[in-house]
Amino acid sequence: MTIRPETTADHAAIFEINRLAFGHEAEANLVDGLRDGGFVRLSMVPEVESKIVGHILFSRLSIHTETSVVEALALAPMAVIPSHQRRGIGTKLVEEGLRACREAGHRIVVVLGHPAFYPRFGFSASLAVPLASPFSGGESWMAVELVPGALAGVVGRVEYPGPFGAFS
Ligand SMILES: CC(C)(COP(=O)(O)OP(=O)(O)OC[C@H]1O[C@@H](n2cnc3c(N)ncnc32)[C@H](O)[C@@H]1OP(=O)(O)O)[C@@H](O)C(=O)NCCC(=O)NCCS
Repeated sequence: MTIRPETTADHAAIFEINRLAFGHEAEANLVDGLRDGGFVRLSMVPEVESKIVGHILFSRLSIHTETSVVEALALAPMAVIPSHQRRGIGTKLVEEGLRACREAGHRIVVVLGHPAFYPRFGFSASLAVPLASPFSGGESWMAVELVPGALAGVVGRVEYPGPFGAFS
């Protein structure tokens, strides 16, 4: 398996992967909306035998504190096609995605996701407690520091890009 950044030629396959994995088009439409709006910072696909079998997307968001605006990323959505799930592909995607985000200089990632899946990559619900969002308040709302201490003292309101409005 190889993991690489998306290209324009992948857009239709990425739509289909998200539609298949989630069983509806909302997340696939979110990907298109984030791309069209210029919010995407990293979008990667795993390839098995020249076929794309998954997708992970990171888009920009802002955390508004009392005194400043802190830039961060949202991990959403991510998907592996049903026929290839539970083989470790999703794990590799998150690991490689976070590595690439860190390498690009990003410092914070937030996610609304399965509490059994994301903590293994360093995501923590307690780190996200000071971050208010339409999705906060439960164990599925998590954050990870790509740079140690990046969230120290950060208390504020997360502003998601417009296309997430369909989910709040
Ligand atoms: C979540 C998803 C991307 C994981 O991809 P994957 O390639 O199957 O993941 P891996 O094989 O690397 O890891 C499987 C792990 O994911 C966890 N997992 C997968 N789906 C899960 C679910 N619906 N709820 C809780 N945990 C889940 C399992 O606990 C498993 O952990 P284990 O290794 O302890 O058994 C994939 O199942 C998927 O596309 N699901 C549908 C779309 C979705 O829910 N996306 C995530 C939104 S946050």
